[in-house]
Amino acid sequence: MTNYQFPEGFLWGGATAANQLEGAYLEGGKGMNLADVMPGGKVRLNVISTPGFNFEIDKEKYTYPNHDGIDFYHRYAEDIALFAEMGFKAYRMSIAWSRIFPKGDELEPNKEGLAFYDRVFDECLKHGIKPVVTISHYEMPLYLIKEYGGWRNREVITFFERYATTLFKHYKNKVKYWLTFNEINGATFHPIFGLGFSPATEEVRLQESFQGLHHQFVASSLAVKACHEIIPDSQIGCMLIYAPVYAYDCNPENVLHAFKEERIFNYICGDVQVRGEYPAFSKRFFKENGINIKMEEGDLETIKNYPVDFISFSYYMSRTEKKELTEEEKAAGNIFSGVKNPFLKASDWGWEIDPAGLRLALNQLYDRYRVPLFIVENGLGAYDKVEEDGSINDDYRIDYLREHIKAMGEAIEDGVELMGYTSWGCIDLVSASTGEMSKRYGFIYVDKHDDGSGTLERKKKKSFFWYKDVIATNGEKL
Ligand code: BG6
Repeated sequence: MTNYQFPEGFLWGGATAANQLEGAYLEGGKGMNLADVMPGGKVRLNVISTPGFNFEIDKEKYTYPNHDGIDFYHRYAEDIALFAEMGFKAYRMSIAWSRIFPKGDELEPNKEGLAFYDRVFDECLKHGIKPVVTISHYEMPLYLIKEYGGWRNREVITFFERYATTLFKHYKNKVKYWLTFNEINGATFHPIFGLGFSPATEEVRLQESFQGLHHQFVASSLAVKACHEIIPDSQIGCMLIYAPVYAYDCNPENVLHAFKEERIFNYICGDVQVRGEYPAFSKRFFKENGINIKMEEGDLETIKNYPVDFISFSYYMSRTEKKELTEEEKAAGNIFSGVKNPFLKASDWGWEIDPAGLRLALNQLYDRYRVPLFIVENGLGAYDKVEEDGSINDDYRIDYLREHIKAMGEAIEDGVELMGYTSWGCIDLVSASTGEMSKRYGFIYVDKHDDGSGTLERKKKKSFFWYKDVIATNGEKL
């Protein structure tokens, strides 16, 4: 037993995204979206990081695992019952924009799409689970990508506002926690996921990304406004991917470099969405990188007037920076640039494991913004083995989660206001970066494999029972 004091009503739970588990990609009137054209397997990493992707399907060359996901679309009741058995207080999930507006620019929503999420929310509420809903999680309607150029195009703000307002009006009695854009600050690394475009060349990536982000900032503020007006007892947050940045050593050149990276990557989006303004340092950064953001009159007022209520974020790893680095020094699996940290072990996919970094992250964010925080993603992607007796002994996952939860306990002791913790991929699902099923995060195993085979049967892993105890004791038994 530990002495950690997690607040009463702490939102323990798990997190998923529509495109990674629903499947049924053409059912219920859904339109095609970004995830539907993402190939499966490690080739996806190239698509994400190389400019010039054409958003076409090529079944001769690739597989498309998001088309079927884990069939949550038909099995949601069984899955939510399993979440309830673990004692979930909250379930973070996303709505697929193209189920509600199949093309994205329609005036009227697709009723079948709305009805599907009604069923999902009803099922959650029946079990006393509060839905925490991401409005946009890497699943922009394909039509908006192809016809409008994704978030490069200012018109998309209107479509997003209509979509978000439709959700608030329709689900106002069922959903009280909302998040606008998943990992909004990740967009400068991989615009394809968050902004729905693949830059023509590397040279234009930053310019286009910050222009797209500006449109999202305005759209997010308009959503905050609408959410507060339509659902007065709701809370709406931004969602960041957060990785504390360490200097490789105490060489002041490296410290300054790490500091600059941290400010640009971790704080520009947070400052705009929480403080309501672009930070002072962004001016010089934009100037030195030839970034020229086109704004319209009223944009800055909108951003200022409608900041978010809380910050939600994902935490998987920290990042270590050195001013001059060789190819060999790069940390292989980290999605950011950076060097290997000699003090850290890494996951099977090379993501460096750093629980202390989570305590830092929580303190840094709270020191800077003084708004409640919510960890909405954290977890270990690993290969799992089903034993002959059917058991799955994922002690490595339990160890990972235990250490991160301890870090949360410490941060709460430090004075951080933490609303909840929804660990990523509470049920095995398709990986976002590699499209693999074998990169598993869940407490619940799904019999589905990289080659598309499998019965889809759900099995409880050892971590299922462990997490159930964690929740039942409000974090005392780890
Ligand atoms: C986050 C995303 O970046 O990381 C999720 O919000 C994603 O969608 C998660 O699944 C883990 O990444 P991956 O690539 O292991 O699925």
